[in-house]
Amino acid sequence: MTSNSFSFSQALLTWFDEHGRKNLPWQQNKSPYSVWISEIMLQQTQVATVIPYFNNFMQRFPTVTDLANAPVDEVLHLWTGLGYYARARNLHKAAQKVRDEYDGEFPRNFDDVLGLSGIGRSTAAAILSLSENQAYAIMDGNVKRVLTRFMAIEGWPGNKKVEDALWLEAEALKPNPANNEAARYGDYTQAIMDLGATVCTRSKPKCDICPMQAHCLAFAQGKQGDFPFKKPKKQIPTKYTTMLIPSYQGQLLMQQRPASGIWGGLWGFMETGFSTQNEIGLDEAVEKLKSHLGAVELDGANTLRLSTFKHTFSHFHLMISPIILELAHAPKTIKNQIKESPVPLPAQLWYDNAAPSKIGLSAPTVKILETLKSQYSLF
Ligand code: ADE
Ligand code: SF4
Repeated sequence: MTSNSFSFSQALLTWFDEHGRKNLPWQQNKSPYSVWISEIMLQQTQVATVIPYFNNFMQRFPTVTDLANAPVDEVLHLWTGLGYYARARNLHKAAQKVRDEYDGEFPRNFDDVLGLSGIGRSTAAAILSLSENQAYAIMDGNVKRVLTRFMAIEGWPGNKKVEDALWLEAEALKPNPANNEAARYGDYTQAIMDLGATVCTRSKPKCDICPMQAHCLAFAQGKQGDFPFKKPKKQIPTKYTTMLIPSYQGQLLMQQRPASGIWGGLWGFMETGFSTQNEIGLDEAVEKLKSHLGAVELDGANTLRLSTFKHTFSHFHLMISPIILELAHAPKTIKNQIKESPVPLPAQLWYDNAAPSKIGLSAPTVKILETLKSQYSLF
């Protein structure tokens, strides 16, 4: 670096020392384990939401071995509300690998970290740079936004060629001691995320206070809003389902989803399948419930249809129409139903919102429980 050329990393670190975030819970007493947990939680979830989950999680599982030894259902329970439950399953699986293959010591070697479930190149780089100051660049949404703007990189970053170009830039811009740049790799990783989160924001970036402004190509062209390029749009279909919620004396009948597929292993209400037709009528829904649960006495059941709401998956929208069926008579026990059934039925339980079972709930289930409480003062 010649003395008058611009150093991206130096400018960023100088900005970070004054304006960066240094008081987040996962920035205190850092270890590869605690940074790993926080990075996984932060992948699809906002900082403010993650904070209490992170604190609870670290309190319950202070070491990777504590996490490995816990039942996966308890891990999912602590995850309820964070979404993307594959993250919690992968954490648990990776913790068991660390326990069994690394003596319970979270690995410090990049390829070993990359070999753990749920950890890709960027997450491995974040863990090792933030906790160990190792020289790896990350590539999350914030970094993609900063770099595509700074270098005016065109094309959708999900495109392989664009992504490869971004990784090359990210590696080239990180601190390089051979150029007299301070080898503060961890601070640099945090700094570029913070710049993206607080200055180079998705809408209305604060270019007037940005340390990169004089060298930013998007700013020079007045085209900050064009970067990063958006994904070419595809239409996704809408499907419909009715969720059937038998209730008796304040308790709601839930069942567990199969381990694989949508909401794998989570608990929720039985549904009528995902139809491409519009929502089904009440009578038809009740008939379906009877066929699901032959032993439940439905005569005289009161029904309450809640408002339909939308849950969006990557490949389709699901319109969910919940129906409460308040049973008039005590239902036979669930155990009896399973014994009498010619085919294996999913695990079921009566859920009491006032004394919730320690189980992982799917997002629509949480939403329905909240709606019942807030709009109907029920359960
Ligand atoms: N998002 C991902 N990692 C983060 C971190 N360490 N701090 C703030 N936001 C983040
Ligand atoms: Fe982002 Fe504006 Fe800074 Fe460029 S000048 S990096 S667009 S905030």
